[in-house]
Amino acid sequence: MSQKPTDENKTPENNDELLIELPSLVKEGEESLEEVISERRSIRNYQDEPLTLKEVSQILWAAQGITDPASNFRAVPSAGALYPLSIYINASNVEGLDSGLYQYLVDDHKLSLKTENNLKDKIYNAALQQSSIKESGVTLIIAADYEITEARYDDRAERYVHMEAGHAGQNIYLQTTTLGLGTVAIGAFNDDEMKDILGIEKEPIYIFPVGKRMK
Ligand SMILES: Cc1cc2nc3c(=O)[nH]c(=O)nc-3n(C[C@H](O)[C@H](O)[C@H](O)COP(=O)(O)O)c2cc1C
Repeated sequence: MSQKPTDENKTPENNDELLIELPSLVKEGEESLEEVISERRSIRNYQDEPLTLKEVSQILWAAQGITDPASNFRAVPSAGALYPLSIYINASNVEGLDSGLYQYLVDDHKLSLKTENNLKDKIYNAALQQSSIKESGVTLIIAADYEITEARYDDRAERYVHMEAGHAGQNIYLQTTTLGLGTVAIGAFNDDEMKDILGIEKEPIYIFPVGKRMK
């Protein structure tokens, strides 16, 4: 049951791109890192309650956001600081955000609408009908442009890109844990089908459905 974006956070920049401002970030938490690591689990069942845009904003920042504006270095390490990863989200139950597929614009901390179609059922089918996707309020897709890293690291690039996706995935786990949300890493899906559904050039490599944790 997503709502229309408010006038304040929805900016039609031009005919092709609809941008959504993301809420400001919180950089202090109540739990220690050790507590969050201890608490982290793969959670596959969620409450049927909407996520907030603030929660989505926070998770995207943890996955790939800029932590040092002077250098543009990000929350996760990257071989050669080349940053081959992109994050897409399919929103299906987020307060203040229309359903649809969006790309996270790292530099601006905004979302760019790719399609207003809610792709959840298709993503669910391409991911072997894993119920975590069906139950999620938002599904993050980490996609990679291998050529960015190959240009410098040749045949070591593939492993570097996958290592980076792991770093991003762990941050998604830890951030969702502190927010009282749940997620699970999904590596089992049909690559070609998923890429086709998302309509993207990059390779989808890792998927994280997110929802409110069961009480
Ligand atoms: C690379 C990778 C791929 C995974 N793929 C799936 C998946 O497709 N579906 C799923 O339910 N869990 C998947 N998992 C989650 C594991 O099943 C889970 O991490 C493991 O059971 C340990 O549980 P924990 O994460 O709660 O510690 C994946 C984990 C990793 C690291």
